[in-house]
Amino acid sequence: MRKKFASLAAAALLSVSMLAGCTSVPKFETEAEGAQRPILIQGPMPIEAEKFAERLDKVKIEKSGTFVFYKGKLDKYPVIVAKTGKGMENTAAATAIAIEKYNPAAIINQGTSGGHDPSLNVFDIVLGERTTNIGSLKTGHLEQGEGIEPMGWIPMDLMASEGSAGEDPNAETIRYYEGDKEILAAAKAVKDKYTKGKVVEGTIGSADVWNNEVDRINWFHEKYETSVEEMEGAAAAQISKAYNVPFLGIRVLSNNKTNGGAYNPNTAEANQDYVYEVVKQYITDMKNKK
Ligand code: 5AD
Repeated sequence: MRKKFASLAAAALLSVSMLAGCTSVPKFETEAEGAQRPILIQGPMPIEAEKFAERLDKVKIEKSGTFVFYKGKLDKYPVIVAKTGKGMENTAAATAIAIEKYNPAAIINQGTSGGHDPSLNVFDIVLGERTTNIGSLKTGHLEQGEGIEPMGWIPMDLMASEGSAGEDPNAETIRYYEGDKEILAAAKAVKDKYTKGKVVEGTIGSADVWNNEVDRINWFHEKYETSVEEMEGAAAAQISKAYNVPFLGIRVLSNNKTNGGAYNPNTAEANQDYVYEVVKQYITDMKNKK
């Protein structure tokens, strides 16, 4: 009696597993598609995130602290837009929370920036081949009454070791976070879809500082080879690297002090339109790779 039941059960199990293997995908497998790792698009200010979020299908809003996550679909693929708030701290926290909560396959940090390169104009876009923290600095040794000499400050790499960065001579180098090659390839493939300016590869510098001193801007441009400055990219890049998540910064110039380029907030929307094309291309590339 027992034996008969066992063989019946085995036959039932076998037919279920055969069903699972056939082409008409059972519901539980379709649901498992929800486990596709989303692409995370970060924007600091409402004008830098909401336009993208509006373009997603089936959006659900989730909040964590001050961070807002718009979870939706683009070409049926899960995409999450994160409104991070401005600055390095907000961005680092919003990146870590998003990674822990949503396990993204890739992260794009995008928004506006100020030009360091006089050949770049307002509305031009920089793809962050490299991103670096330009607020991570060590000053020279001066005694009381000797003043301050910012031109003598040197880079400080907080990721060089677990020891004291202040004492370690190996920590006196610039830390560059490399942009992910595959996201970069997708971005380059759709360059021509952007008609409001040029799209170039370059170096994004980040710090909670808005530099208006042209000599200081030039100093960064020469020492760090920065194309633009903003306040978020390097924080997102650092945390993405900590978790091994592919990352790219994409920044439009909203201003450029080095060539008189006046601030234009409409650049934020233009950048989101371009990044939308990049994400579409990246999704296509990912699907073709499978
Ligand atoms: N310097 C620093 N941040 C800038 N931003 C735009 N232009 C600049 C600039 N010249 C961006 C920052 C931040 C907000 C103030 O605008 O990334 O989110």
